[in-house]
Amino acid sequence: MSLPRSVLVVGSGGREHTLVRSLAASPARPRVLCAPGNAGIAQDATCLPVAADDVPGLVALAQHEKIEFVVVGPEVPLSLGLVDALLKVGIPAYGPKADGARLEASKVFTKQLLVKYGIPTAPSAVFTEVAPALAYLRTRPIPIVVKADGLAAGKGVIVAQTLAEADAAVHDMLEGGKFGNSGKQVLIEDCLYGEETSILVVVSGKHYAILPTSQDHKRIGDGDTGPNTGGMGTYSPAEVVTPALYAQIERDIVRPSVDAIAAEGIDFRGTLFIGIMLTPTGPQVLEYNTRFGDPETQVVIPRLKTDLLGLLWAAAHGTLTTEPLAVRPDYALCVVIAAKGYPEHYAKGEAIEFPDKLPANVTVFHAGTATNAQGQIVTAGGRVLGVTALAPTLGAAAAAAYAVCDEIRCPSKYFRRDIGARQLHRR
Ligand code: AMP
Ligand code: GLY
Repeated sequence: MSLPRSVLVVGSGGREHTLVRSLAASPARPRVLCAPGNAGIAQDATCLPVAADDVPGLVALAQHEKIEFVVVGPEVPLSLGLVDALLKVGIPAYGPKADGARLEASKVFTKQLLVKYGIPTAPSAVFTEVAPALAYLRTRPIPIVVKADGLAAGKGVIVAQTLAEADAAVHDMLEGGKFGNSGKQVLIEDCLYGEETSILVVVSGKHYAILPTSQDHKRIGDGDTGPNTGGMGTYSPAEVVTPALYAQIERDIVRPSVDAIAAEGIDFRGTLFIGIMLTPTGPQVLEYNTRFGDPETQVVIPRLKTDLLGLLWAAAHGTLTTEPLAVRPDYALCVVIAAKGYPEHYAKGEAIEFPDKLPANVTVFHAGTATNAQGQIVTAGGRVLGVTALAPTLGAAAAAAYAVCDEIRCPSKYFRRDIGARQLHRR
């Protein structure tokens, strides 16, 4: 089937900027649009001001612009049924329908699936009432993990270091209303120990293609300190995933997950992002997301030699075959530049100054940026930019990315200094 001549990417982060760049570089040379996009995306695609969660607005936009293919970035429109709505009007889209998006939107649903199909994951229990939850906590080892069932923009997971902290999380979620409907059920899960890795899989029914491995840095501070964030930096490949471990992950987690989802009657055509803890007793599933990771995408996609448009188009049409992807041997490393104060309070509207010229192996992906009335590029979100470098060694990729991070000027610029350090210092 010939490739689409026009593509609409939905979303406005670094992930979407990466997807836009890569789709625009396809040999098919499609017209690329993005809704709503950001200041950087606007340099590579036509941005249209429709919010990523405005399902009717996006469908109308796709029809009006005669879009032939939609690629959905974030989880919220997926769980609101954007793909269902597009398919209903005959527009092909990449991303699961609402039934598949539940694998991210409900941690309880996913846990039940993992247990039913014997996919390795931590022991857990589900509660809707405070008293039995508190009683259960007293039967488990501490630290313990308390999770709000639904989508909570990355904030619904508390790794409680003390029983008091776990109790407070249960109260907050079940009674506090802090998480709205997302917190009506809590999942209490044993704490797992080890290194984390993100496995992103392009799924099309029973077929899949595993994207290059990567490792995120979730905490705000150097040395993995401070609160969790959406992700402060990534690198690829994650060598902690040795060839033997990779084979084990594919055999025990990826293949069984794809089969389990199909067996549940879900025709999943999108990205299954499997968060994995590499424990001393083997890899265990922490969570599924049903979209590309951010900032994982910023290192995984630039390493791909396979045409992204062709890959996603085949997945969306159910014509993907399970086969390895072509990947560049270079290492990729992405440093996220955030606004100081993120993930809590931070300033917006600060002007950003970029170096005049970037080295050929460095790309600055935009996340929370906008253009102000004077035409300046300004900060507009917590995570502002993602600086990705490709190089023959991880050390060289880190040096190249950090050199550009140091040159970018913005009053409240903040970034971690140790992205990739764990792998760089392993030997
Ligand atoms: P999730 O959204 O479920 O991936 O959780 C967010 C983060 O919380 C993960 O990336 C882990 O760092 C941490 N986490 C989640 N579940 C566990 C667990 N069972 N043990 C230890 N850490 C966890
Ligand atoms: N970087 C983690 C995520 O996209 O959920």
